[in-house]
Amino acid sequence: MGPGELEIWLNHFEHHARHPRDVPHGLSDMLSSDERELIASSIATFQLGEQSEGRTLLRAAERFAAGQAPRLVRIIELLIREEQRHAARLRVFMRDHRIPLKRSDWTDRIFRLVRRLAGLRFYVGVLICAELIGNVYYRALESVTDCERLQVLCRTIVSDELAHVGFESQLLLTLQAGRAARLRALTGPAHRLFFATTAAVVWLTHRSVLRRAGHSGRSFLRSCLVQYAFYLEPTRVLARLSSA
Ligand SMILES: [Fe+2]
Ligand SMILES: [Fe+2]
Repeated sequence: MGPGELEIWLNHFEHHARHPRDVPHGLSDMLSSDERELIASSIATFQLGEQSEGRTLLRAAERFAAGQAPRLVRIIELLIREEQRHAARLRVFMRDHRIPLKRSDWTDRIFRLVRRLAGLRFYVGVLICAELIGNVYYRALESVTDCERLQVLCRTIVSDELAHVGFESQLLLTLQAGRAARLRALTGPAHRLFFATTAAVVWLTHRSVLRRAGHSGRSFLRSCLVQYAFYLEPTRVLARLSSA
């Protein structure tokens, strides 16, 4: 990713910091007791996942940039702010519908621990897995409710996340391109396996919502892997298209 691309991403994130996507007032805000029971624990886990001060990520970006790429650090700062906005919007929605917040969750603890293990490449590699799977989840969540406010909230989050995964995948592919081919041959499949395992854990822990949305374990995993291939295996997708 060169300076020109960083400039484009910076413009995007600065623009959305000035004009954040919002959930308009006046939408229907009725959540039936059945819907509330179905989503309460699940949405609380995702709200917790969105909530991060992002200090580790920012420190990793600063270390990586070493004063040479101030745009990269600023982009990551703005991306973290968007995550905090997602957490705040979900929190207010949950408060309005008397859905209790979670202070901790084992899946969230593991994710935070793993992300701290190494530098920027590793952190972004873990983060993008959560976000790609999150996009499939938020689309499912949108489809299990008639509450317009929740539907638009899910769409708003997905719209922001599409830019996050666009930026992160470009960054990750750039960072990986700098590695020796032999190392890439090892880390590529390992990352895909980590992604698939995470998707399986999300299926197991959120299957009530995902099943109501019409997913089976297999269809959920397939949807997640399609997202993975689209963002992180662009050459494979192109090869498949050209042979079709
Ligand atoms: Fe988010
Ligand atoms: Fe994100």
